[in-house]
Amino acid sequence: MVKKIGIASIIMAFLVVSITVAMAEGKGNARKGKYLFRKNCRTCHIEAGSAKELSPVSKTQAEWQKVFDNVDQLKCKDEWAKLSEKDNLDIYEHLYGHAFDSPSPAKCK
Ligand code: HEC
Repeated sequence: MVKKIGIASIIMAFLVVSITVAMAEGKGNARKGKYLFRKNCRTCHIEAGSAKELSPVSKTQAEWQKVFDNVDQLKCKDEWAKLSEKDNLDIYEHLYGHAFDSPSPAKCK
C-alpha cells in the first residue's frame, strides 16, 4: 500500500513537471519581446516617426489581442511578415503583458 502511494506520487510529480514545461514553451518571452518590439516596431512607431507612437500601454489587453488576431489588416503587415512565429509570440507577450489594463503597465522609451 505504502509502495503504491510512493509510485503514484512519483508519477504525479512527473506529470506536474511535464505540464509546466509544456505550458512554458507555449508562451512567449516578454523580455525578448521588448527588445524585438524596439528593434522591429519602434523604428516606425515612435514619437515623430513614420507611424503613430506605440508602446504596451497604448492599448488594453483586448485591443492588443485584436491586433494580433488581425495582423493582415494592418498597414504594416509586410513588416510583420518578416518576423518568425517565435518573435511574434515574444512581442505579443511583451505588449499584452504590459498593456494599459494589465497588472504591470509599461511605456516604451
Ligand atoms: C516601416 C514602418 C513600420 C514598421 C516597422 C511597423 N509598423 Fe506598424 N504601422 C505602420 C504604419 C504606416 C501604420 C498605419 C498608420 C498608423 O497607424 O500609424 C501602422 C499601423 C500599425 C498598427 C495599427 C494602429 C493602431 O493603433 O491600432 C499597429 C497596432 C501596428 N502598426 C503595430 C506594429 C507592430 C507591433 C510592429 C512590429 C512588429 C509594427 N507595427 C511595425 C508602419 C510600421
